[in-house]
Amino acid sequence: MRILLINQYYPPDASSTAYLVGELAEDLARHHDVVVVAGGIGLAPLRPVIHELIAHRERYGEVSILYGGRAPSELLYVDELERWRGRFDVDVDVTVDVADGDWHGRVGVVPRLIPQAVFDPERVVAMMCGPEVMMRFAAAALQDRGVGDDRIWLSLERSMTCATGHCGHCQLGPLFICKDGPVLRRDVVEPLMRVAEL
Ligand code: FES
Repeated sequence: MRILLINQYYPPDASSTAYLVGELAEDLARHHDVVVVAGGIGLAPLRPVIHELIAHRERYGEVSILYGGRAPSELLYVDELERWRGRFDVDVDVTVDVADGDWHGRVGVVPRLIPQAVFDPERVVAMMCGPEVMMRFAAAALQDRGVGDDRIWLSLERSMTCATGHCGHCQLGPLFICKDGPVLRRDVVEPLMRVAEL
């Protein structure tokens, strides 16, 4: 069992989270299809991944971006979403839990976008960030399409306080998300996420 330590990917001269996550995306996903699954503010930490995918589009296969928010007014980076959607080489699907009068897009939770998303389950790498319940169902939907647990990566952003592995606020069973994550593979975290109150 391998736990990805994100610090492994932090070269000494890296000065930004965007660089860090972009490197991570390239390392994990080069030559693969990529599906990015984001819920709510979970799009923020995944945005550098999307920038990397678009900046070096030739390095990846199909690229799908699936994003959902509670309401249209809560969607992040709407202008960028529109730009990404306007490309011919990126598939973007957006949904909201509750529509308002001006919304003409999809209504429903993010995991419902997965059955029709454009990717080959045999060669896709999935990266997701959002509420834990969303990630649990999205990962299950990916599994239903035949995506292996070893190609599903979750970014867990539990309440962090010390960020040094001492206070225990971020603890998930034996894991300290601040030290052992926050990006972890599904086969590592899924059994722990199923335990109530953990
Ligand atoms: S934030 Fe304190 S142990 Fe992780």
